[in-house]
Amino acid sequence: MKKQLNGVPQHVAIIMDGNGRWARRRAMPRFMGHRQGVKALKTAVRYASDHGISALTVYAFSTENWTRPREEVDFLMDLMYKTFVQEIEELNKEGVRIRQVGDRTSLTPEIRRVWTQAEEITAANKGLTLNIAFNYGGRQELVNVMRQLADRVSQGDLSIDEITEEEVASLLYTHPTPDPDLIIRTGGEMRLSNFLLWQAAYAEFYVTDVLWPDFGNDDFERALQSYAARERRFGQVLAKEQ
Ligand code: FPP
Repeated sequence: MKKQLNGVPQHVAIIMDGNGRWARRRAMPRFMGHRQGVKALKTAVRYASDHGISALTVYAFSTENWTRPREEVDFLMDLMYKTFVQEIEELNKEGVRIRQVGDRTSLTPEIRRVWTQAEEITAANKGLTLNIAFNYGGRQELVNVMRQLADRVSQGDLSIDEITEEEVASLLYTHPTPDPDLIIRTGGEMRLSNFLLWQAAYAEFYVTDVLWPDFGNDDFERALQSYAARERRFGQVLAKEQ
């Protein structure tokens, strides 16, 4: 029987790993890897936009990344800020809608402002939704959901029976983006690293040894080809196996 191919994934999420190794292999400081990583991100955004992907979620800064050396954290914050200031016009022209996914409360007012501006400027765009996971942790996201639910229950606005999967999903930072169909991880590690813990339930996983700054259109295409050849079962038995 001919295998049915999946179409283009509607939502692709990427764990952009390997910037530090990319730099080290070139005897450069780690920050050069992050800078190169922004170029790879621009390429990936354009590729996703051109190939009919509706949403791209990228893991740019995790809640655990605060424990990195101070200079690296400062560099990443600055890079994010400058990239937005430089790229927002172009992204807006291309119809990209930008959203931050993560906790904003511990970010500086400047960074919060740049996020708000980017979201407001691009809010009405109909092209690719670009979710940037920044100060994001999957567990922290779920704790945030639980607190909101507990608060509503204690106020009498919500009954325990009304806590459903749909209710939880509606409170995730990624809402209303649907769950990812495909999660790509560069840099070869086989783990989720606290990324989209709830949303990843039925995502297909694709790991490549390519380091993020080297991830180009051919690599994206290989990931989509691998996805197209998968049989997605969502916990069910397929008709042909019954
Ligand atoms: C992981 O590589 C990468 C990061 C922690 C940062 C990713 C950030 C970018 C690509 C820039 C994003 C910029 C914007 C504007 C959103 P690593 O440093 O852990 O690499 P290693 O595993 O080789 O050490």
